[in-house]
Amino acid sequence: MVTDLKTMVGTKTGLLDRRIFVNKDIYQQELEKVFGRCWLWIGHESRVPNNNDFFANYMGEDPILLTRDSKGKMHTFRNMCRHRGNRICRADNSNAPSFICTYHGWTFATDGKLVGVPGYKEAYFEELDRLQ
Ligand code: FES
Repeated sequence: MVTDLKTMVGTKTGLLDRRIFVNKDIYQQELEKVFGRCWLWIGHESRVPNNNDFFANYMGEDPILLTRDSKGKMHTFRNMCRHRGNRICRADNSNAPSFICTYHGWTFATDGKLVGVPGYKEAYFEELDRLQ
């Protein structure tokens, strides 16, 4: 555990110790004390100017999507399928009316709602709660 963080940042000189960019302990502290506890910048609304635009980013190590849905409202949600955790979007940014998980084909709207499940009737007997 790195304990001399204050000596690594020269607030009067503006100099930084290079270890803050590569040290694994510092990175773990940053994930815990910054990314795990604070409001985080995901992206400006200008990154998604049109309906169904999306922009991929991270909150710490969590993949996030910033989207504008088909009605123009903005959303953020994890870029992660609710079925088994696969990424639902592999592009950095573009425009799409939905995201289809490549693993089993679950489909998510640009507001993050689950809108399609292959075999919903036959495999899930229409009992899967698609709203969660
Ligand atoms: S992991 Fe996405 S549909 Fe199964």
